[in-house]
Amino acid sequence: MKKDWIKELRILVEGSFLADEPLKKHTSFRIGGPAELLFIPKTEIDLINAIKFLDKNGIKRYIIGAGTNILVSDKGLNGCVIKLANALKGIKILKRERSSVYLNVMAGEPLRRLNEFAVKNGFIGTEFCFGIPGSVGGAIAGNAGTRLGEMADIVESVTLIREMGEVETISRGRLFFAYRECGLPEDSVILSSIIALKDGGKDVSIKSVEELKIYRKKSQPYGYPSAGSIFKNPPEDSAGRLIELAGLKGLRLNDAEISQMHANFIINRGKADAKSVIKLIDIARSEVQKLFGIRLELEIRLLGEF
Ligand code: EPU
Repeated sequence: MKKDWIKELRILVEGSFLADEPLKKHTSFRIGGPAELLFIPKTEIDLINAIKFLDKNGIKRYIIGAGTNILVSDKGLNGCVIKLANALKGIKILKRERSSVYLNVMAGEPLRRLNEFAVKNGFIGTEFCFGIPGSVGGAIAGNAGTRLGEMADIVESVTLIREMGEVETISRGRLFFAYRECGLPEDSVILSSIIALKDGGKDVSIKSVEELKIYRKKSQPYGYPSAGSIFKNPPEDSAGRLIELAGLKGLRLNDAEISQMHANFIINRGKADAKSVIKLIDIARSEVQKLFGIRLELEIRLLGEF
């Protein structure tokens, strides 16, 4: 790896540069060791140029949105962590066509803001994402969803930055969404997207948003840091149900605990480390496999060495 790359990058692009930055400050789990560099780009062009520079020089890059669906190793991450949440922002109405409306949404925009924007304007289609934390880019990358719907239902196209800073737009027909997956190439960074909604249904939006809000408050642990659902649901079943049946609710390792309220959540009771979370994940996986013959797949993304 190039020596002094941080200095060179600083000269080349604008944004915030935080060396040795504890990533626990940037994840909803409040877990994670230091990043060699955490970079928050000022503009789209700074992001593209930074990726070009990092790829050319063989410097490892990690892209995070709002850090809500990741577990970062206690050892931290070598290379450059690029944080997009609240950096690349903007929602614009592009066009209206019969009963449809198309929005251009930047990747760093919080999903919550997209939902608020839609509800305020009477656009239908984002209700499912009420209460899902994180950024629009992260939500597309993980095809975030609830029982009311998923990002795949509303994404019309995605503009990506590929290796060496190449920009490419992929339209709906060429996107391969699956359950909690978007099928985009590993190296790609979501820059923006076109979101297609239906125009004119204020009441419908607000009603389902309210229902979802009540349901989630009742069924998910809000008071503690977490990364949301740890595992994907296996086909026709629920990871939370299986982990609860395995008797693992409340199992605690240091400050990491399988939530009493929802067994597919691990909560951080204060100073939890990634190692303890991984241990709980392994226990839940092996117990569920042993009892039900079902292999649970992770929904969260692991970053770094474990
Ligand atoms: N259940 C249990 N025990 C538990 C938890 C759940 O028996 O400890 C049962 C529930 O009673 C219910 C079923 O399992 O019958 C499904 O549970 P729930 O409705 O809470 O939904 P989920 O499948 O666990 C999914 C999403 C959540 C989203 C909710 C609500 C996944 C992996 N998770 O959870 O998304 O909030 O639906 O729509 O698809 C996230 O992705 O991070 C997330 C929080």
